[in-house]
Amino acid sequence: MQRLFPTRSVGEGMFLDSLFTLRIMNILVTPPNGTEKMTTTNLAVVILAAGKGTRMKSALPKVLHPVAGRPMAAWPVQLALDLGCRPAALVVGHGAEAAERALGGGELLFVRQPEQLGTGHALLCAETSLASFVGTVLLLCGDVPLLRRQTLERLLACHGERRAAVTVLTAEMDDPTGYGRIVRDGDQVVGIVEEKDATAAQKSICEINTGIYAFEAPFVFEALRRVGRDNAQGEYYLTDVVAVARTAGRTVAALPAAEAEETMGINDRLQLAEANAIMRRRTNEELMRGGVTLLDPAATYIEPGVEIGADTLVHPGVHLRGRTRLGRDCVVEPGVIVTDCEIGDRVHLKAGSVLAESRLGNDCTIGPMAHLRPGTVLAGHNKLGNFVETKKASLGERSQASHLTYLGDTEIGKNVNIGCGTITCNYDGVKKHVTIIEDDVFVGSDTQFVAPVRIGRGSLIAAGSTITKNVPPDSLALARTPQVIKEGWRKKKRDP
Ligand code: UD1
Ligand code: CA
Repeated sequence: MQRLFPTRSVGEGMFLDSLFTLRIMNILVTPPNGTEKMTTTNLAVVILAAGKGTRMKSALPKVLHPVAGRPMAAWPVQLALDLGCRPAALVVGHGAEAAERALGGGELLFVRQPEQLGTGHALLCAETSLASFVGTVLLLCGDVPLLRRQTLERLLACHGERRAAVTVLTAEMDDPTGYGRIVRDGDQVVGIVEEKDATAAQKSICEINTGIYAFEAPFVFEALRRVGRDNAQGEYYLTDVVAVARTAGRTVAALPAAEAEETMGINDRLQLAEANAIMRRRTNEELMRGGVTLLDPAATYIEPGVEIGADTLVHPGVHLRGRTRLGRDCVVEPGVIVTDCEIGDRVHLKAGSVLAESRLGNDCTIGPMAHLRPGTVLAGHNKLGNFVETKKASLGERSQASHLTYLGDTEIGKNVNIGCGTITCNYDGVKKHVTIIEDDVFVGSDTQFVAPVRIGRGSLIAAGSTITKNVPPDSLALARTPQVIKEGWRKKKRDP
């Protein structure tokens, strides 16, 4: 179980992941005669994320609001990198520095759009960073986090098969208000018209522009230079590339997404909550299909990537985050929060316990209301009871601390019993010091270990002791003020 606990800096971990899972996708294009397959690996991505996000009413840039524990833009970024898109550029503007901090550190290039003059202008800003790229440019939005890989693969396949200059991903919406509408002539797409520029007849169209496209480069950049801003918003619309392509006699294709839900864009906090709920549902459904019982899935907060073994039971109000792995036959009671932990089989996490960056062997019982801080390592068959806090503490098999205890910078052997109210005094105000407790030690209640200190195997520490010196094996250590009795003292005070 040797494993590093990476920090949860969103960008880093994520990009590391995608490095490992990197697969360069080959787009297979079948020529009309169908006999030969032509392969191209030229696939780039531009992700738009410079917009203000006014409707979020937030100091945090919209694309950094978390969905399933990561900034929402991290999802399309990861998808694009997983698909093998290189180069991969993110267009930032509002809150650019914050976006670069949160999402940087990997292979993503950042492009500044100094002024938000529209989606068309935003893509044009990325042109130089794509360095004369020739091939397919996938265009994604930083505020569309629910998109699935299969959908993009279908979009790219359609783009290739149709030899299109532009392929737009569309969706059927019951309520298309606010979106650009797909205007067709027969099954030919002739244009995309924005809500604010649409006629009443066009507003009744329910097929909308998801804002996701495949473009041929360098064609798209040439086309963008011909796009003006004579429209209701005075912006350079990316959607106008469709009309330019048509005029140039180039093919414009449209692919309806299988489910509209995944193309949902987030503009306000209501949609943010909705997107989080959808992500949660996806993750939870996958876990339940894998044999995990969730008593109330809608109220269970498990981040994508968390692994859970079969027959584990998870109560509502539980948060399992980051790179957490949980074994089989575990029980996780309400209010438990686990971040970046590796947990064995048949572990019982009782209500209200909080665990981070810790490793637990099989058959442990934790809580209620225990706090396992980073660096806690339990070998197996351990019990940490209510109001026990640990930090950088290792416990050998079958050792336990059942109540009201702090164990910090501590190495504990096997079969050790830590009595109620034990405290390791690990900090002298300047440095941290280590307490070592060897196998088979019995620690009486209300003991303080003033570190550094070592307790030899098989010793007994008398209750109420303040231990400041090492204890040899198999000894009794008694370090408390002897009791004084003054018989009749109180009575004399009362009745002089
Ligand atoms: C856009 C589309 C619309 C589509 C909708 C789908 C245009 C003109 N309209 O409208 O047809 O139905 O998306 O959600 O393209 N952005 C920039 N720089 C800018 C403007 C926007 O980077 O100058 C980014 C935003 O951060 C966002 C994306 O582009 O990630 C979309 O911008 P937004 O203003 O939300 O476009 P919509 O008006 O929703
Ligand atoms: Ca807009």
